[in-house]
Amino acid sequence: MRLKIFFASLLSLALALSLSSCEGDQGPAGPQGSEGPAGPIGETGPAGEGVQNCKDCHGGNQLITARLFQWENSVHATGGAYNRNAASCAICHTSQGFLEVAGTGATSASMDVENPLPQNCYTCHQIHQTYTQDDWALTTSDPVTFWVKGEMADIGNSNLCLNCHQARIPSPEVPEPGVDGMATVTSSRYGPHHGSQGVMFTGNTGYEIPGDEPYSNSVHTLAIQNGCITCHMAPVADGRASGGHTFRVESADGELNTNGCIQCHDDAGELETLVEETQTEIADLLNQLGTRLFELDILRDNLESVNASTSAPLELTNVQLGALWNYQYVREDQSFGVHNYKYAKALLKNSLAALN
Ligand code: HEC
Ligand code: HEC
Ligand code: HEC
Ligand code: HEC
Ligand code: HEC
Ligand code: HEC
Repeated sequence: MRLKIFFASLLSLALALSLSSCEGDQGPAGPQGSEGPAGPIGETGPAGEGVQNCKDCHGGNQLITARLFQWENSVHATGGAYNRNAASCAICHTSQGFLEVAGTGATSASMDVENPLPQNCYTCHQIHQTYTQDDWALTTSDPVTFWVKGEMADIGNSNLCLNCHQARIPSPEVPEPGVDGMATVTSSRYGPHHGSQGVMFTGNTGYEIPGDEPYSNSVHTLAIQNGCITCHMAPVADGRASGGHTFRVESADGELNTNGCIQCHDDAGELETLVEETQTEIADLLNQLGTRLFELDILRDNLESVNASTSAPLELTNVQLGALWNYQYVREDQSFGVHNYKYAKALLKNSLAALN
């Protein structure tokens, strides 16, 4: 109704204008009128195949909505470190940087990333490439050659995770065991950075100084075919607290999601004890090594930062440097032996023996 009146008055205005135009020059254009109300929705057109595909994913079903809800509770979404957008950080910390280099092994993007995004659906899946279910394919699942020491790993779909959850190249480099020498450390953050889980789980990149403890891998490394995904993306427990696309094996309250473990550890009580004992043992060895490095003035008293800076560099023997690397490597892994108990234990024990 109001629309009709609007058009009617437009029409009379136009008539008046056209009549008056014979009488003089046209006046200046008036101000733009306010936006009219939205018209009625048009009839649905013939269903195109593309639109059907849209609904397959965008139907409010679990494909997107449930995963989105879980992902929002993941550290990929909440961690906040996606603002680390400098070219060399962006390849792991931003979605755009990762997609530029994914699968190439490059250690830096070509430039800093503007408007950085955290790891999201598009980082890991080929969303909107074909607009079919094929788009759920991962952006990369190729075997990964680790940056440090160049060893290769292949753990199926979890190769995706290895690209980012690997050690960064340190300066000076990790020494060769058995080779004598000295090295100068100038950074309080000397170590593999925060993502050593990938090299730990696959049993790589440690300073394998010979000692009583043999370097071998936990049954986990050999038996868990699907790698990280098996434990960190197990069926969801407790709503969205852990599992699935939360990538959490433990809820924020510290409760372990055993859905990924029960196929092998069928007794929940035994598993709890096993985890407790393993983590206590590794945490204890870690503390011993950290304390020793502190006594040698290599670590500061928080047992995290290295006692070095550009103005006060640290001169270390290769063995000390390697032991420091091993310490930071096992500490940053954060699983305290769950990822690869035997390897973590050997690195810590043999480092301690070498320093004493
Ligand atoms: C294989 C599943 C899949 C198909 C098919 C698909 N989408 Fe998406 N789409 C996604 C995902 C995943 C996202 C990101 C999550 C979100 O924002 O909901 C997304 C996001 C979007 C967005 C939000 C804006 C953006 O780009 O982030 C729009 C709009 C969109 N899709 C439109 C479409 C249209 C139109 C079609 C059909 C031509 C389509 N999608 C088909 C999975 C799909
Ligand atoms: C594009 C790089 C990238 C990929 C791929 C990736 N991650 Fe991450 N992940 C990160 C970064 C960076 C963080 C820290 C985010 C932050 O703090 O903002 C993180 C955080 C996490 C955390 C939480 C760590 C904590 O301190 O609580 C877990 C668990 C995790 N990732 C597991 C995985 C698993 C499992 C996969 C494979 C399915 C994977 N990630 C794939 C980069 C990645
Ligand atoms: C090889 C991939 C990779 C690169 C390159 C990388 N990071 Fe990270 N970074 C990670 C991962 C993975 C985590 C999260 C690990 C975790 O929480 O267990 C992380 C965590 C962090 C955190 C959070 C630490 C915390 O305790 O919450 C900061 C800050 C950070 N990175 C800064 C940087 C900066 C600055 C650069 C570049 C100089 C950089 N990162 C380069 C993978 C990377
Ligand atoms: C850090 C990487 C990562 C991110 C971010 C991520 N996914 Fe995934 N997603 C995976 C992996 C890995 C799998 C395969 C798990 C497996 O093999 O069991 C998967 C599986 C899936 C599947 C099952 C696909 C199939 O073939 O059955 C869907 C659906 C899915 N993701 C949706 C999403 C949506 C929606 C988002 C964004 C909210 C998202 N994913 C974000 C890594 C990721
Ligand atoms: C056997 C199951 C299992 C496998 C396989 C596994 N994890 Fe874990 N992961 C754990 C457990 C358990 C913790 C320790 C949780 C705790 O005590 O906070 C952990 C800790 C972590 C953490 C520290 C943050 C957190 O969630 O506590 C990251 C990051 C992580 N794992 C990533 C990975 C990546 C990447 C892979 C594959 C290379 C992997 N994990 C393989 C079980 C597993
Ligand atoms: C594919 C089978 C498999 C899966 C999945 C699995 N484990 Fe294990 N795990 C084993 C086997 C086999 C052993 C060695 C036998 C033993 O000591 O009981 C083991 C040993 C362990 C140990 C002792 C340290 C070690 O490596 O020897 C811990 C702790 C542990 N598992 C925790 C977990 C947790 C927590 C999960 C799930 C988040 C899990 N495991 C998933 C098979 C598995």
